[in-house]
Amino acid sequence: MPGGEGTVAAERPALIGDVAGVRSAAEGWRCAGERVGLVPTMGALHAGHLSLIERCRQECDRTLVSIFVNPLQFGPGEDYERYPRRLEDDLALLRAERVDAAFVPSVEAMYPAGATTRVRVGEIGEVLEGEHRPGHFEGVATVVLKLFNAVRPHRAYFGQKDAQQAALVQRLARDLDTGVEVVVCPTVREPDGLALSSRNAYLEEGERIAARCLVEALRAANRRYLEGERDPERLREAMLAVLRAEPLARVDYAEVVDERTFRSPGRLAVLAVRIGQTRLIDNHRLGQPLP
Ligand code: PAF
Repeated sequence: MPGGEGTVAAERPALIGDVAGVRSAAEGWRCAGERVGLVPTMGALHAGHLSLIERCRQECDRTLVSIFVNPLQFGPGEDYERYPRRLEDDLALLRAERVDAAFVPSVEAMYPAGATTRVRVGEIGEVLEGEHRPGHFEGVATVVLKLFNAVRPHRAYFGQKDAQQAALVQRLARDLDTGVEVVVCPTVREPDGLALSSRNAYLEEGERIAARCLVEALRAANRRYLEGERDPERLREAMLAVLRAEPLARVDYAEVVDERTFRSPGRLAVLAVRIGQTRLIDNHRLGQPLP
């Protein structure tokens, strides 16, 4: 057999498509006393995802990356169909990162006919992103709990770019006694400050330039905060002034909220802005340096 069994076994990442397969792989590692890390993604991997994978590799013995564009978290008229799908490129990146396994289930494998149970997260899922994308967080919470149940990782890694998602997953992990330690990693930015997101791929040239207004709005609020401004309304106005000056931008929300409840007042500046057809989000903890 070309290469022999050893080569095949060493082939990384192992590609797993079903829940039973991922459960048995992760269980094997756990039984061998290895620490298992999970990085849940929807693919179209970029340097932000790679930073989660690298942190996972540093902290765990095994790194498992899931790639699943979860239909449950997309509302009607959102971008489920056109969400970027680049499995071959993603697997090449995972190979280069020496990831142990990639879990790439089909929709039927994750949601067999008749699977109607949903996870509702309560208040934190009802404001901001939750208000603007009804059902979104129920979809996120359901798929994340399913991944936690299938893999039973010691740790799972999420990006601060999706701050409300990260807070909600931490809440879910605690409330439902998953035993999973949720690790939130810093946002990775382009040289001009734009937060990395798979959705940046939708931006046309002029839109890509316009998209800088998100980080510029956060910088404006941060400057005011560092000058001593604490009134959430004034900090919000600082963001809105920048966003309104960008003709391609339409604001869904720009707020300064508490990092746990996502209600005002607080210290986390959060915003969601449409640039053309593309909806982008970003956030920053005021008072901290923002490159
Ligand atoms: O952040 C994402 O890519 C998704 O919301 C997640 C956490 C993988 C769940 O589908």
